[in-house]
Amino acid sequence: MDRATKLRSASWFDTPEYYGFSRKAWLRSEGFGRHIFEGKPVIGICNSWSELTNCNAHLRQVAEAVKRGVWAAGGVPLEFPTISLGEMFLKPTSMLYRNLMAMDVEESLRGYPLDGVVLLCGCDKTTPAQLMGAASADLPAIMVTGGPMLSGEWRGRKVGAGTDGRKLFDLHRAGRITDEELCEIEGGIARSAGHCTVMGTASTMASLVEALGMTLTGCAAIPAPDSRRMEIAERSGKRIVEMVHEDLRPSRILTRQAMENALMVDMAIGGSTNAVVHMLAIARRAGVDLSLDDFDRLSRRVPCIVNVKPSGEYLMEEFFSAGGVPVVMRRILDALHGECLTVTGRSIGENISGAECWNDDVIRTRDKALSEQGGTAILRGNIAPDGAVLKQTAASPRLLQHCGRALVFETYQHMREQIDSPDLPVDENTILVMKSCGPIGAPGFPEWGHIPMPRVLMDKGVTDVVRISDARMSGTSFGTVVLHVAPESAIGGPLWAVRTGDEITLDTENRAIRLEVSDEEMGRRLSAFTPPPPHFTRGYGKLFLDHVTQANLGCDFDFL
Ligand code: FES
Repeated sequence: MDRATKLRSASWFDTPEYYGFSRKAWLRSEGFGRHIFEGKPVIGICNSWSELTNCNAHLRQVAEAVKRGVWAAGGVPLEFPTISLGEMFLKPTSMLYRNLMAMDVEESLRGYPLDGVVLLCGCDKTTPAQLMGAASADLPAIMVTGGPMLSGEWRGRKVGAGTDGRKLFDLHRAGRITDEELCEIEGGIARSAGHCTVMGTASTMASLVEALGMTLTGCAAIPAPDSRRMEIAERSGKRIVEMVHEDLRPSRILTRQAMENALMVDMAIGGSTNAVVHMLAIARRAGVDLSLDDFDRLSRRVPCIVNVKPSGEYLMEEFFSAGGVPVVMRRILDALHGECLTVTGRSIGENISGAECWNDDVIRTRDKALSEQGGTAILRGNIAPDGAVLKQTAASPRLLQHCGRALVFETYQHMREQIDSPDLPVDENTILVMKSCGPIGAPGFPEWGHIPMPRVLMDKGVTDVVRISDARMSGTSFGTVVLHVAPESAIGGPLWAVRTGDEITLDTENRAIRLEVSDEEMGRRLSAFTPPPPHFTRGYGKLFLDHVTQANLGCDFDFL
């Protein structure tokens, strides 16, 4: 076979005109010998490494392992950067830039002489952004997620980055943890590179890309510093070269059935609510018609069996030791589409056929599930006609069926000013409502939905109340928190009409959320809506405001 004529990269290098010569010459300026142009697949290593994305800080070493595999299989690896989205550092919110990163990835894959790509990601938005871009570009692609950090430690106990950090910080707010103790926790809660150690958004998305079939089997849960992460990276480098020869592209893997598999795994692991938004966006890129109703339908079919925080007790390191995603998939295989093709060239069913569980308390059997239904419930009603999301496995059971009076914060800033007031008119039945936190209102759809517990309630020992907003929430958070209300209040969604003192009913069993006012009153209030001034009038921010879709459509740009 004359591979050179079949490879995409040949149209850059094997052309008779000046540029065929000059491209080879310019690449040789990096010290490559001429043999690299002799029909070898060129494999891009798309690296989201950045010192501003601590979760991805080890990806240069991972890239070196990928390169070994690519060379060994007869390919030529070329590593390149894209923008990277550091969840903890990027203001106003990394979600504002997910689509920008997806565009960066897509256009880099389209524009450069690549035959295939290995995608290196980890922190929350880097994984969906890379997959969105790769789905649109549709070159042979394999992902290597960066893996979770080592479990956090403080005074002999394990602490999970995110979930325990929030709890301990609240104890500090309440004066029950000293400044010195908080400083110790700060030094021990995030002990290495890698993403957060609970089933937050990053762990969830890593698990879902494995469930989709876009990583090698078992990739998601290997801790970032574990030598086995380097080993799977090396094997991924080897495998992508084979995938180029097999022309195995994302469009053959990212099917509707694969999406349904990922959604069911999301339910089984008690995944982050952010997965809803990202999976809708990935599906759109892959041309799959996925909707919020699919999440709800599938959540009723699959129980939550993974006992990892914030829904359960353990951390990602224990999830890995118990067997990780392959065990989860094997335990719900009867519900899955086992025939789906994966990057291994084999089906999901074949990939996981030998998976064994090494700790039944971490990954439960179905009869000992944490909850009968999956983690994510989709709610609808007159304040969320296009849907809202509740992570029921991280909620308080007593609040899943609840009716209470609203206390409304018009903005996030308003909430911050008021929440610790000793006179805040709240009790354990109050429903906290926050507006202007959606894709356009905030802007960028930040993780503000986990409204802190009011200090007056914490002083009384109340640990949870119902909270409702058009924001997102960190996957590491917990509580009875209704999120992603669509359409958002800043574009005149009915959430805008809620007033302090209104009665709201949360009826999780019937997937309903209602403002108890008449349609006439709702219409009268909404007729007074005027849009707030835009947050941006130029640049990427304006592009975002002009084209971002609402939460129920994945918040991708309408032209992508
Ligand atoms: Fe990157 Fe949590 S901050 S995954």
